[in-house]
Amino acid sequence: MRTLLHLSDLHFGRTDPATLAPLLATAKEIHPDVVIVSGDLTQRARGGQFREARDFLAALPQPQIVVPGNHDVPLYNVLLRFADPLANYRRYITDDLEPYYRDDEIAVAGINTARSLTFKGGRINERQVARVRERLCALPETVARVIVTHHPFDMPEGHMEADLVGRARMAMEAFVACGADVIVSGHLHVSHTTHTAIRYKLPGRSALVVQAGTATSTRERGEPNSFNVLVIERARVSVERRVWRAVDRAFVPGALEIFDRTEEGWERATPPKPATEEPPPPGRAPVG
Ligand SMILES: [Fe+2]
Ligand SMILES: [Fe+2]
Repeated sequence: MRTLLHLSDLHFGRTDPATLAPLLATAKEIHPDVVIVSGDLTQRARGGQFREARDFLAALPQPQIVVPGNHDVPLYNVLLRFADPLANYRRYITDDLEPYYRDDEIAVAGINTARSLTFKGGRINERQVARVRERLCALPETVARVIVTHHPFDMPEGHMEADLVGRARMAMEAFVACGADVIVSGHLHVSHTTHTAIRYKLPGRSALVVQAGTATSTRERGEPNSFNVLVIERARVSVERRVWRAVDRAFVPGALEIFDRTEEGWERATPPKPATEEPPPPGRAPVG
C-alpha cells in the first residue's frame, strides 16, 4: 500500500496565507510515501514567488515529484518567456523536468506540459511519451504506475475541451498500453476523478484520471481550496479529497471515491460519498 499526497496549483503570489500552516501540518499527519505537486507553483513565475514556493516544498514531506504549470512560465517578461521559459523554475525548484520515483510497489513519472507558445494551454510531445514508456512499460505487474502532468487529460462537464493537454489522445493511448494506473493533474482548480473508459474508450484497459483543486490559492473556481490523498493498493485505489474549511482553519475530509481493479482496468467501486464541503466564499472572481 502506498499513500500519495497530491497538491496542485499553489500559486505563490496569490495564496491564502491562512491555508499554508494547516496544509503543512495535515501533510505531516498523513505521512505520505510520495508528495506530488502538479504545477502552477507560482502566480507569475517571479523569483520571490518561487522562493516562497521552494521554502514551502522544503517543509513538506519527501520524496516529492514536482512538475511546472503554465503560471511557472513568465507571462509578461517576453524575453525570458521565449529564451528560457523555465529559468526561475529550474533555479529555485528543480532542474529535473522529468522527475521519477520508483520503489517496489509504485512508480511515479512527472511530465512538463507547460509551453511558451500558449498562455494557458499545455502540450505533451512524442519524446516525452517515449520517455515515460521507457520508464513504465517494463515494470513488473506488481508496480502501480502513476503519471503526473499539470494540464488535464479529462475534466468535469462544463469545461472546454481546449483545456485538455494537447495531444492527449496520442499520449493516453501510449500510457494505457503501458499499463498506466493513475494520471494526476491540476490546472482547472476543480477536483474531479474519473477513468479513461469514458472519454478515451480504449479497449481492455482503463486508467484513473485524478484532478486536484487548488490547495492554497485564492483563484478558486467555485469550490474551496482542496487537495487529494490517494491510497494505492494492488486491487484498489481510493481518492480522498481534503477540503479547506475556513471557520475551522483546517483541511477536513471531503468526498471519498474508491476504484477496483477489474479485467478491463479501474472501475468505480462505490458511489461517491456526499462531500461535506462548504460553499465557496463570496466575492472572489472566477479566473482563467
Ligand atoms: Fe493554476
Ligand atoms: Fe495552470
